[in-house]
Amino acid sequence: MKYQAPKGVSEYFPPRSSSFEWVKETLLTPIRRAGYRLLELPVFEDTELFTRGVGASTDVVSKEMYTFEDRGGRSITLRPEGTVGALRAIIEHGLDRAILPAKVFYSGPFFRAERPQAGRYRQFYQVGIEAVGTEDPALDAEVIAIAHAGYRALGLTQFRLEITSLGDSTTRALHRVDLLNFIDGLDLDAATRARAEMNPLRLFDDKRAEVRELMSTAPLLLDYLSDESRAHFEQVKGYLKDIGIEFTVNPRMVRGLDYYTGTTFEFVHDLLGAQSGIGGGGRYDGLMEQLGGKPISGIGFGLGIDRALLAAEAEGVVEKEAFVTDLFIIPLGSAAMSIALSLSEELRVHDLTVEISFGDRPLKSALKYADKSGAGHVLILGDSELASGIVELKEMRTGATTSVNLSSLVSAITTELSTW
Ligand code: HAM
Repeated sequence: MKYQAPKGVSEYFPPRSSSFEWVKETLLTPIRRAGYRLLELPVFEDTELFTRGVGASTDVVSKEMYTFEDRGGRSITLRPEGTVGALRAIIEHGLDRAILPAKVFYSGPFFRAERPQAGRYRQFYQVGIEAVGTEDPALDAEVIAIAHAGYRALGLTQFRLEITSLGDSTTRALHRVDLLNFIDGLDLDAATRARAEMNPLRLFDDKRAEVRELMSTAPLLLDYLSDESRAHFEQVKGYLKDIGIEFTVNPRMVRGLDYYTGTTFEFVHDLLGAQSGIGGGGRYDGLMEQLGGKPISGIGFGLGIDRALLAAEAEGVVEKEAFVTDLFIIPLGSAAMSIALSLSEELRVHDLTVEISFGDRPLKSALKYADKSGAGHVLILGDSELASGIVELKEMRTGATTSVNLSSLVSAITTELSTW
């Protein structure tokens, strides 16, 4: 019997898992530096939270949820996205009654039963943030800037930022009337018409060329913005220009989740083919209230870690040295092993990555292993070294050796490796 991972999940194992870790940590750094705090959430929630919060017209809810009954007969769903769970927690724990905006971040696995293909998985990973309780357009600009800073820190250059505004409820109500009228005059099949009735904006997202052609003259939401929504959007664009973040306005952008209002945005990478969305987000005016919270607005984003890694690999910018072994100790014999064990423990406290050769591996094969593991330095502890009290620290890249006194090993190694 040979077991395999379930179809369509993304898995990370060495050595590529180091690159995955690097992407995640790099995307998280600007988030932490902007004062966002960790929200560690369950990966499953009551199904109703997602149907209510994400929207029944979305593919995510109507086709892609992993839903099952638990042993207590409750309907449970593996989280397909992070926003509604984050808001549920913010409301449940009263973070919306403290200083606003409540600023949280999360990262972890998400689940959507999509048709698997390159860059599209059934279990995938996101880093996300939510800032709830402030309408200031400067916050929209900062949220976008944080994602942008993460991508730049990865070294990515071949990505674009697209933004639009979905306006307020008055905007959308006016536009909806005209859009439905427009759609009424189109020759559409019954399923597409049914989709349009639930949310006519979805037709902008239809992949079929004939529907795209039909929709090319459809009325655009951006032309219906109320004065207030327009002013907000203008300010967001103004701030982005001021801080030097380039963007294009895409009035046909449709996000896959129904809760968006006002500013919405997507980061698109040019080398990823069909699954080019590396991250996206936006404002959600009514969502807090809809989930039983206060009537306050929020904004956030979700960045796909899997796709950011694919993008970094496509651009050739993956940090290869992110998690290398600093020192590889080869003890020859059990007395040497005791020294290796205590020495490695001490050195790790000094933030060094230290590996030991186990299992009486002969010196030659241990050296080969050390070389393969990419260790920067090697320390051989044999009988003669223990007897003389002098050990040789070898730099693998150059082959240069330094003699070090066994009694001052820790300080000698930390000095040597920090200057290396
Ligand atoms: P989303 O656009 O559905 O937004 O997902 C965010 C990102 O997750 C996408 O841009 C993509 O990079 C990645 N992603 C989505 N589905 C998959 C998949 N099947 N395989 C691989 N990567 C995927 C949200 O989830 C919102 N909750 C973001 C947000 C937070 N909006 C406001 N706050």
